[in-house]
Amino acid sequence: MAKIALGVTSSVSLYKACEILRGFQKAGHEVQVIETRNATALVAPALFDALSGRRTIIELFDDRQPWSVAHVALAKEIGLFVVAPATANILAKFAAGLADDFLSTFYLAVRSPILIAPAMNEAMWYHPQVQENIRRLRERGVQFVDPAGGFLACGDEGLGRLADPNLIVARGLDLLSHGDSLRGKTVLVTAGPTHEALDPVRYLSNRSSGRMGFEIAREARRRGADVVLVAGPTAIDPPAGIEVVRVVTAAEMKKAVDARFPSADITVMAAAVADFTFPSAAARKIKKSGLKASLEVVPTADILKGLGGRKKDGRILVGFAAETHDLEESARAKVRDKNLDLVVANDVSRDGVGFDADLNQAVLIDRRGRVRSTDILSKRALAAVVWDAIEDLREQKK
Ligand code: CTP
Repeated sequence: MAKIALGVTSSVSLYKACEILRGFQKAGHEVQVIETRNATALVAPALFDALSGRRTIIELFDDRQPWSVAHVALAKEIGLFVVAPATANILAKFAAGLADDFLSTFYLAVRSPILIAPAMNEAMWYHPQVQENIRRLRERGVQFVDPAGGFLACGDEGLGRLADPNLIVARGLDLLSHGDSLRGKTVLVTAGPTHEALDPVRYLSNRSSGRMGFEIAREARRRGADVVLVAGPTAIDPPAGIEVVRVVTAAEMKKAVDARFPSADITVMAAAVADFTFPSAAARKIKKSGLKASLEVVPTADILKGLGGRKKDGRILVGFAAETHDLEESARAKVRDKNLDLVVANDVSRDGVGFDADLNQAVLIDRRGRVRSTDILSKRALAAVVWDAIEDLREQKK
């Protein structure tokens, strides 16, 4: 259970903050509501008091609160700060560092992830000053759930409605750090397949969806790590709060990973890198009549093996293996041959589990020979098992 601060400002959509509050509570978290003075004119704090079971904070100097410097005390306690709905005014105050009420002062004291869901009239949303404020906040790592289109309180149709409360809750839960076990650590994760072009329309690839790697990245973020995700072509949205580097080919992935490896404490290669590529890609589409019956391929460089050769200073390196038979034996050989700390071996011989599926089952083998076999799990749950195993290894290295 974490504590979440929910800031609400004076947009007509603020009644939806009740649903957001409930969503976080249903996920097992405690919510402290902070209203601006103007917001209380639309919805009285008593409603939020009743829903949250805590007194809603409004004023900076409020003797109803037991803390001496309430904004600082609360800022230290929370795992996430959400502002929904956020008016153009609060965005401007946050961006400028203005601190003239509880909510704006609190923003400056917060060190947890911050998620903002703006709501305003479409003309205001597109005003360059508003967009400039948003850009500045994004640069500082603040996350946004952009407004949606539709019917606005002012009678206009357009962009500016508060995003769906369920979406705001889902994004918030993604950002919520679950403990601090990886705080201060930089984690590099790869995900997805690579595409090796034969010509501008044809490529060689595999069935990887990228889901497992994305879940590995998400879980690392939830544990407080700074995460860089190098992703091949995938159709899924990346988790919030992480840096995503998009690549297409195995060679591009190698370049991106090699450059970032020295600053990563832990590297997890979950990508299904193509093992082969074409000697060169044709610049123009090859005509059917020009295609040979057999195509020449050349092996790609093994990125993971290269990293194994460079690994030092307590860095942890984790590989994946996709096997259809002799799972444990092949995985053990990979730990040895590629100088890994842990290998996560999937059996990809069954339908509905592993490649391009929501479920996965794995055998984890670490460099000391410890073996853990999981049940069939969601990829999200398996990601947690993988991080538990990695954190065990870090404990042993200390
Ligand atoms: N990998 C890599 N570079 C490649 C190929 C794979 O870094 N060119 C990484 C993958 O990200 C994964 C692991 O190596 O972490 C998979 O190892 P690999 O030996 O390729 O296993 P399989 O693909 O299962 O191949 P094999 O047929 O050799 O068992």
